[in-house]
Amino acid sequence: MKTNNYYITTPIYYVNDSPHIGHAYCSLACDITARYKRLDGCSVKFLTGTDEHGQKVEKAAKKADISPQDFVDTVSKRHRYMAEFMNYTNDDFIRTTEERHKKATQAFWKKLEENGDIYLDKYSGWYSVRDEAFFQESELVEGKAPTGAEVEWIEEESYFFRLSAYEDKLLKYYQENPDFIAPESKRKEVISFVKGGLKDLSISRTSFNWGVPVPNNDKHVMYVWIDALVNYLTALGYPDTSCEEYQNFWPADLHIIGKDILRFHAVYWPAFLMSANIVQPKRIFAHGWWMNEGEKMSKSLGNIIDPIILVKEFGLDQVRYYLMKQVPFGNDGNFSRSSMITTINADLANNIGNLAQRTLSMIYKNCDGKIPQNPNPTNEDKKLLTEFEYYYREYREAIEQQNFHNALLAVTNYANIANEYIDEQAPWVLKKENPQRMAEVLYVLAEAIRKTAILLQPFTPDSADKLLEQLNTENRDFSALEEPLKSGISIPLPEGIFPRFIG
Ligand code: MSP
Repeated sequence: MKTNNYYITTPIYYVNDSPHIGHAYCSLACDITARYKRLDGCSVKFLTGTDEHGQKVEKAAKKADISPQDFVDTVSKRHRYMAEFMNYTNDDFIRTTEERHKKATQAFWKKLEENGDIYLDKYSGWYSVRDEAFFQESELVEGKAPTGAEVEWIEEESYFFRLSAYEDKLLKYYQENPDFIAPESKRKEVISFVKGGLKDLSISRTSFNWGVPVPNNDKHVMYVWIDALVNYLTALGYPDTSCEEYQNFWPADLHIIGKDILRFHAVYWPAFLMSANIVQPKRIFAHGWWMNEGEKMSKSLGNIIDPIILVKEFGLDQVRYYLMKQVPFGNDGNFSRSSMITTINADLANNIGNLAQRTLSMIYKNCDGKIPQNPNPTNEDKKLLTEFEYYYREYREAIEQQNFHNALLAVTNYANIANEYIDEQAPWVLKKENPQRMAEVLYVLAEAIRKTAILLQPFTPDSADKLLEQLNTENRDFSALEEPLKSGISIPLPEGIFPRFIG
């Protein structure tokens, strides 16, 4: 059923605070993958949204002195706005306060209950509201959560999920599905965490009520993480597992998340799914965290990067490009203005932009504004044209492994060799000496630019579109890479696409 359908999800974002660069980063990686898959002919469902329940959100609403519902409505809108502003192509935006989600979460809970995995007991232990996570005494570091967050002691009646019963099943699953958790270092962390032993998990709270009520006992609201994880199913119409969306898209192909929420996705979620008898997602990729000029971003330091401000200064595609090119996906990254300027100047303005500008303006001025012909390619011409295959393969393999940085390296490396070709062939010299050859060289370059622009589309969609407009290219998906650039097509007056920035 699923063959050519692809389902990708971002984490759903807490609405206790405004969106920032960390959120934008996670969704960007998903957007790039979604766009790539669509260009490859897949039918894609790309989901994002907001995680609106829990103590953290309730507290933030109290602080703002408004009702939790009014509070979440406002902050959720900001996340929705950011997704549009960043040009994300999500097909749905889920909110956990929606009725469809309440229905799905309660049905999911009942499945776990039917399977005998939920029981009522009393929880006493530490809880961090900031992390929305329970901690054992032994996990605390100097009286705080390992993340540095404050913890509070709670003692209350609680439902528990028999997580301890899933230890061996999970380990077996990780073993049999080596691609399930990536990158490899994170997979190892998860395995050793599970090997360390799993305790049953408290999955309901009674000391506040901003959450989905537990079926048949509304003294309890569900633990926000069980509620949150189910969003991936809600969006496909769960509990109606026979509906088209569910049939077409479950299991999810990829959950992209940050490293801080790996345990919830790679341990709790698979165990819940096993209990509910639902097939596992195919892959969970945990990326690293961004710092700002060497410092952890935090409200108290006042150094949280707002992607909207950054885009206003440097341009949307420039920000999208930088975030993916600067740091291998999976590693932590450090944002700095100077590295931003260096990267976008070197790769976009000087390498790709300059190549396009030189080539297209020569075609416009010297070839009657039409894509020229090259009926008899020389060995050098053939070399540049066929080398593309190698870089295209690299690009594909990299994206399939969420190695976005390497995918962009493949693109810039190809543009580099096209720049070497233009310098060697020197069409500006041929203009006087051999105009026929000049036209042939310009054809080869226009073809290299077209292919480069096609590959850039998932990363820098507006600029890649403009570049393809300038070549007057209609077919822009990956199938277009199999056909040669058509000669004789008129092109518009070329304009620079990638400005250069002064540091
Ligand atoms: N609501 C939960 C996720 C539930 S998914 C079923 C949550 N929300 S969050 O808003 O706190 O974080 C969302 C994502 O943003 C996480 O994947 C987190 O890693 C990411 N980031 C938050 N700050 C970040 C950076 N500074 N850098 C990169 N990503 C970071 O957790």
